Parts: sequence; structure tokens; C-alpha cells
Amino acid sequence: MLDSNFLRENNSRHFWHPMGIPAEALQNPPPIIVEASGNRIRDLDGNELLDAVGGLWNVNLGFSCEPVKRAISDQLARLPYYSTFRGSSNDKVIELSHLLTEFFAPEGMGRAFFTSGGSDSVETALRLARQYHRLCGEVARTKFISLRSGYHGTHFGGASVNGGPRFREQYEPLLPGCFHIPCPNAYRNPFGETNPERLASLCATALESEVEFQGPKTVAAFIMEPVLGAGGVVVPHESFMPAVREICSRHGILLISDEVITGFGRTGDWSGARHQGVKPDIMTLAKAITNGYFPFGAAMLSHEVADAFERENGPDGFIGHGYTYSGHPVGAAAGIACIEETQRLNVVENAAARGDQLYHGLLRLKEKHEIVGDVRGGRGLMLAVELVSDRKLKSPLPRNEVDAVHSSIYREGVMVRISGSNLLMSPPLVLSEQEAVEILNAVDAGLSAHASTH
Ligand SMILES: Cc1ncc(COP(=O)(O)O)c(C=O)c1O
Repeated sequence: MLDSNFLRENNSRHFWHPMGIPAEALQNPPPIIVEASGNRIRDLDGNELLDAVGGLWNVNLGFSCEPVKRAISDQLARLPYYSTFRGSSNDKVIELSHLLTEFFAPEGMGRAFFTSGGSDSVETALRLARQYHRLCGEVARTKFISLRSGYHGTHFGGASVNGGPRFREQYEPLLPGCFHIPCPNAYRNPFGETNPERLASLCATALESEVEFQGPKTVAAFIMEPVLGAGGVVVPHESFMPAVREICSRHGILLISDEVITGFGRTGDWSGARHQGVKPDIMTLAKAITNGYFPFGAAMLSHEVADAFERENGPDGFIGHGYTYSGHPVGAAAGIACIEETQRLNVVENAAARGDQLYHGLLRLKEKHEIVGDVRGGRGLMLAVELVSDRKLKSPLPRNEVDAVHSSIYREGVMVRISGSNLLMSPPLVLSEQEAVEILNAVDAGLSAHASTH
């Protein structure tokens, strides 16, 4: 490793942080993480922290998952790269695609299209959705509908279906033909509805009405996260996704379930759609598919969608889309090892149990700390604490105060993530009961530190 003074001097000087403000990072450069093992990370100053972020919602099996590390290094030695563009394939991508179609058979998935990450998977899903309709003779079906507050990555297509202004404003004009409906977040919604079930029904009605307004035969797909992640962990009522499925099916609209976070066990089930008993037409995957150890992703397609492509052996069936790293053999090897380990450890059970423990612990902290406006979770290891300066007005806590809470929690030895005025938590799915207590204690201490200075 380079000399630590060099690293401190050059921190944030020669690259920009995604989702950061370069000028702010220059003034206040972030901690430099240099090592990790188990569920813990270590920074350059020697602080050891429990990683309640799990990398970035992706290190589901922790930082010491030897089978995945071994699969990567063995594959690097045997075949470090070969393309899967028309004309060649590799053994690992064949094996992984077979495993994935078995893994997601309950969701009805029949084919995989490989990518380098979540944004690529979303882009693939949107593009193939349009092509599917063309292949079915419905060339007018080009529009996309999605949820406000949803997050689908940062490519132009994904940014266009994103529902957060922070990811859109600076990059407009975005893709034409993208429309948004209210998000079923019982804490903040335009209906002032606090009952999750009634709210789900209002949002589903909004979708129906948007479809009618646009003209049902012009809509290609509706995309949603079964549990919204980056938008502040919103758990829609269990009636919502089935209602969306029904509306989409009735109007011939494809349902894309963006499972970049929720795939592979994070919600306490193997996918968000499965938890809701919903079969989507397309699923997007990334993150935990390789435990975060290799950039990789996939769009999975139902048998029905796949059939439309596979029936057409002419130019219209040509998929003019793909990435140099689609089906990368090292990523595929990591993916195979990851699925095997994920199943061997049956991580869904622990994700559900630890998720419950954290959710109820955070709800107790809400009783104690006035700045906690809302606690969201209750569906596995996806949790958010929304901080407010006034509970009645629900006014977001100012950014500098959120940063101060974050720093206090860091000093207590736990890494959480800030998104707007939310503290987000998405620890590895192999978190222990004692580690969950550590997270709760550190968040408690961070919130108490705020109270003592305000
Ligand atoms: C639901 C969802 N979709 C897509 C993406 C984009 O993935 P990536 O950052 O790997 O491009 C993310 C990233 O957090 C996500 O949470």
C-alpha cells in the first residue's frame, strides 16, 4: 500500500465520488477504507467498523467469502476473459445461466442476458421490452411508467424512469415517453394517506389512470423495485405489487421487477417479487450476484418474452445491444460460487430474523429520539431512519446535522449510509444477533449526541 500521507494528501483530489459533490469532497474528504474481513471494514487510521451498509447493498455474504474469492482467482488463472458476443461463448456463462434459470424458476424466468452492473441491467430490460413489443407487432408500445422515489441506476434510460429529482434535474432532457405515478410511501404521499393498504390501492388506481391517459397500447413496461431501496427504503403494502401485475397483464404491459437490491435474499425471500407471489416479465439483477466482488449483472426474461425473440430468426430478432463484459467468465465464476454459497447458508432465514430485530430496535429508538420522523423496514435487511427537525411538519433535518449524526455513528464503530435525510442500513445477510445489537447501540448513541448538542 502507498504511504499513508500520500493517500491523505491525494484523497478526493484526482477522482470524483459518485453521488457526491466534488467541491465538498475536496473540503471534507471521506474516510479511506483499506481492509475488510467478516462483516467489518478498517480505515487508514486503524478504526475498525461494523459495516451496516454491506458495501453498497451488495456484500451479502460478508468480506471473507472464500469460495467466491477462490472462484475468481481460479478463473483468472484459467480464462481471464473471453467475449460472449455472437461467435463465441465460455463454459462459466453457460453454467451460470443454467443455475440462474433454476434459481428464478418460481418467478418464471427462462433466459438471462448478462451485463456489468445494475444500470446496465435496467437499460437492457427497457430496451428488450421495446423490442419484444415490436416482435409482437405492437410498434407503438414504447412508453415506460415507474414510481416516484424509485431508483433504477444512472444510464439515460434508468435515469428517465428514476423517481428522484436529484438523479434527474441536472441531466435533462431525459428519454421522452417516461411517466411517473405516486409512490406507496405511507409517511410521505400526495394523498395524505397513512393507511398502507388504502394507499396501495390509491397508487394502483393512479397507475390504471395513467395507462388509460397515455393509451394502453402505447405503454411498453412498468418498472418498480418490490421494496424501494435508494429512495429511502419504502416497503409497499403487500397488495400493491399483485395489483400492479394485474393491471399490467390486463393491458399487455410488461412488468419489470428491478431486483438489483432485492434479488438473492435481502428481503428475507429469494426475490422481492417471489415474496409478493408475483411473476414479473423481466427481472433485473446485479450487486449480490457476485457478492460485490466483481462488477456483474443480468436481466432475466420470462419464457413468454423469450419465445417472441426466439421465434424470429431474421433481422428483427437481432439483439443490437450488449456489453464487452456481458458474460465475463470471471464474473460468471463468481456468480456460480455466490449462488452455491447463498443457498448453502440459506441466508434468507437470517436476513428475515436480523431484519426483524433491527426494525423493532429502530422503532424503539423512534420513541426515544424526537429527530426520528419515520422508521422503514420490516422486510429483511433493508432499513431506513428518516431524520426530521420537526415531527409535525416532517421537515427534513438539515444536511450538516445529518452528516454530524453519521459521523457520531462512525465514531461509535458502525458504518451507515446517508441518502438525503435518511440513514440507510443494508448489512450483510450473515450478520449475527450481537452485531445487530451493535448497530442499534451505535445509532442510539449517534442520535443522543445530536440531542445533546441541540
Ligand atoms: C434498484 C436498483 N436498480 C439499479 C441500480 C443501479 O445499479 P448500479 O449502481 O450497479 O449500476 C441500483 C443501484 O443501487 C438499484 O438499487
